[in-house]
Amino acid sequence: MTHQVRAVVARSKGAPVSLETIVVPDPGPGEALVKVEACGVCHTDLHYREGGISDDFPFLLGHEAAGVVESVGEGVTEVAPGDFVVLNWRAVCGNCRACLRGRPWYCFATHNAKQKMTLTDGTELSPALGIGAFAEKTLVAAGQCTKVDRAASAAAAGLLGCGVMAGIGAAINTGQVGRGDSVAVIGCGGVGDAAIAGARLAGAARIIAVDIDDRKLATARKLGATHTVNSKETDPVDAVRELTGGFGADVVIEAVGRPETYRQAFYARDLAGTVVLVGVPTPEMKLELPLLDVFGRGGSLKSSWYGDCLPSRDFPMLIDLYLQGRLDLDAFVTETIALDDVEKAFERMHHGDVLRSVVVL
Ligand code: APR
Ligand code: ZN
Ligand code: ZN
Repeated sequence: MTHQVRAVVARSKGAPVSLETIVVPDPGPGEALVKVEACGVCHTDLHYREGGISDDFPFLLGHEAAGVVESVGEGVTEVAPGDFVVLNWRAVCGNCRACLRGRPWYCFATHNAKQKMTLTDGTELSPALGIGAFAEKTLVAAGQCTKVDRAASAAAAGLLGCGVMAGIGAAINTGQVGRGDSVAVIGCGGVGDAAIAGARLAGAARIIAVDIDDRKLATARKLGATHTVNSKETDPVDAVRELTGGFGADVVIEAVGRPETYRQAFYARDLAGTVVLVGVPTPEMKLELPLLDVFGRGGSLKSSWYGDCLPSRDFPMLIDLYLQGRLDLDAFVTETIALDDVEKAFERMHHGDVLRSVVVL
């Protein structure tokens, strides 16, 4: 059997997205059919639309999603029909070198659904990040579904599928922020704000938010920043040093992805501190540093991949904290929108006045 549902498709490079009817097959072995309840709009969806990620048009966009499992294919044990799940990009294999060494976020053999979703004329769709959840139903690998507490709102839960997990994980998994630490977060968009929320969860004593936009700094305060620095007005390295007794922060999280902010992160840390790089640079960007500074400063420089998360460990835990009122995921949902408003949400993203627009179905 197949299912005909409405979905948001990017048909060609740079063209506005369109609402289309797509055909979703019943799940085969190892697959799950998910009735999507909510899906956040992320920069990556826009990058797909602009042809910045691959040329495999048409794309079925959307990848920060939560929903209910409608049916599962043969051999599926991870989830069952009726489960409320958060989707993740990568069903890890559990057997490759990275998985066996306890770093499944670097898994070499992640998989997605094997069957293809199509347009009604049979054209195969490429689902964004192997998900494609701006759709009433989507087909994924069962391992991409993590069951969480049904009491959570779908709009909030779905955010764990991408940017918010990347930020929280940068603080709690990659940066290993500890009780009493001082933390600086450079760039307070959705990812940086999530890093701030993560640092607060981990018990950081000081959380210094750095951004060039005062509106962003105001939101950062709501999520847990104890100090804010506008780096257009004040040198952020000096400011972070001053706020940490002259030492620099124990953990600095970079959530912009530019050479100048990578440099600030490098110098804003304490001598034995940790720099966590979450912001994704472009291929031509370069950073020159005096080797003596690289050698002379101890500590570590780490990049964070999807918050170094293990969905089956981290999603249910974070949803529990959310339901207990200890993690404000709702604060990331600036607006909820309908499926045919995704193009408008892309425009709003450019203006920087939303953390997340979330499609609710
Ligand atoms: N210094 C400080 N902050 C800056 C600077 C700068 N030079 N330039 C931009 N910013 C701020 C913006 O004002 C904004 O608040 O960085 C923030 C970026 O936020 P978003 O554009 O909303 O991006 P976000 O979704 O948070 O992602 C940030 O993390 O995962 C990566 O690919 C993602 O590289 C991106 C980064
Ligand atoms: Zn693996
Ligand atoms: Zn995303």
